[in-house]
Amino acid sequence: MTTVSGILVIGSGAMGRQIGMAAAVAGFTTTVRDVDPDAVTAAETDMRRWLEGRVVKGRLTAAQAADAGERIRFTTELEGPAAGADLVIEAATERLDVKRAIFAELDRLTPPHAVLATNSSTLGSSTVADATGRPDRVCNLHFFNPALVMRAVEIVRNEHTSDETVATVTEVARAMGKTPVLLTREIPGFVANRLMAAVREEALALYADGIASFEDIDAAARDALGHPMGPFELMDLVGLDVSYLIRRAAFEQSGDPKDLPHPLLTAKYEAGEFGRKTGKGWYGYA
Ligand code: 3HC
Repeated sequence: MTTVSGILVIGSGAMGRQIGMAAAVAGFTTTVRDVDPDAVTAAETDMRRWLEGRVVKGRLTAAQAADAGERIRFTTELEGPAAGADLVIEAATERLDVKRAIFAELDRLTPPHAVLATNSSTLGSSTVADATGRPDRVCNLHFFNPALVMRAVEIVRNEHTSDETVATVTEVARAMGKTPVLLTREIPGFVANRLMAAVREEALALYADGIASFEDIDAAARDALGHPMGPFELMDLVGLDVSYLIRRAAFEQSGDPKDLPHPLLTAKYEAGEFGRKTGKGWYGYA
């Protein structure tokens, strides 16, 4: 098993930055890399604010927060951080051509022992593994939003992933305080998103049929079932664009019309109402 000390996260969006922060707090030397300098600055500002908040709340001592801050770097640079990485977690845009180019480049720039993982929720790692010369050291390592808080991480093997790679990423997930959920093979939606989709599709059908308001359906999920958020609130958190694209990808893989996005979800997507990130989804956000 590869012992991991250096982690490189590709992409500093909502997921990448929080995965990087969780890694730094867990003691890994971490770099979060993005091609967009503005995204790098925004992620770094977010991290400083979060670390200060942790100290104010008494969740971290000032020394722990300072150490975590020292261990993490946000940058547009790739070559240096890649050369020092034992594990790369790719959290870039959900486009196959982009991911394949990233994996080919990482294969060139990282040491041969490094594990290359993708945080993708829609693309199994087999779709990028053959862009590298090390398909046995490629897998999905799928975090949940908000990644600093949600405890599960799905580890999905592709047909080439070695036991050693699974052991390495399992150890890293545990060191980050996460619960590893191991999938023996790739299936669309993995496990957690399939569970979430079952609830979401039922909620959309109830709302479309005029059985209850979406607010009341959320209240039922929260107060009858004990979910931390209702399905409509959760769509707003995850992003209606992400929920829509996951569904489209599932349909494209299965060809089964029952996997198509619900028409209400498609309408939100086409209206550009993506949830919290655009200020409007099912709910409004000032
Ligand atoms: N970023 C970082 N930390 C956050 C956060 C955020 N966006 N939101 C909340 N937190 C932290 C708070 O700081 C707090 O930490 P503390 O107790 O150590 O101080 C803790 O989370 C609880 O926060 P709050 O008391 O403010 O809020 P809630 O108790 O309402 O929890 C929540 C917020 C954790 C988001 C909770 O509502 C929840 O668990 N919701 C469900 C989220 C979910 O299901 N995520 C999975 C989505 S599916 C996915 O991501 C897969 C992808 O492929 C689509």
